[in-house]
Amino acid sequence: MPFDALKPKVTTILAHDKESIGQRLTEICELLQTTMGYYDWVGFYFANHKEKTLHLKAFAGEPTDHTVIPFGKGICGQVAETNSNFVVADVKAQNNYIACSMYVKAEIVVPLFKDGKNVGQIDIDSHTEDPFSEEDERFLEWVNQQVAEIL
Ligand code: SME
Repeated sequence: MPFDALKPKVTTILAHDKESIGQRLTEICELLQTTMGYYDWVGFYFANHKEKTLHLKAFAGEPTDHTVIPFGKGICGQVAETNSNFVVADVKAQNNYIACSMYVKAEIVVPLFKDGKNVGQIDIDSHTEDPFSEEDERFLEWVNQQVAEIL
């Protein structure tokens, strides 16, 4: 499904204000993970700036042990500090990488800004080699902007 067809579904999920934010984020993770063939794991981490840690709030895919990640550690922890998208075509080429599954070949992490502050991120793991394009980046930035509206 093209990203343009996914967008109204994301908007509809986020508008369900009788559901908790965690439930709505889980539904977005499930939508993206089941629709996009190369999105094998999708999760949202949120920052605790005092402790300098990221906390997994919602996900779809295999459960991970890495529910708390210190700033600076792994791809996620680096994005907490750089405030920039991190697209990893080949996770084996990364020294500062936290492996969640032996099947993961690539990863994309896009920061989520609320009122200009980096408050979290969407993280996607792929079992496909080098699958992410600028289209994924623009789409995931858009998803994060929509999520920021309900935080
Ligand atoms: N691979 C990530 C850790 C989180 S898992 O992908 C779910 C990283 O290096 O930060």
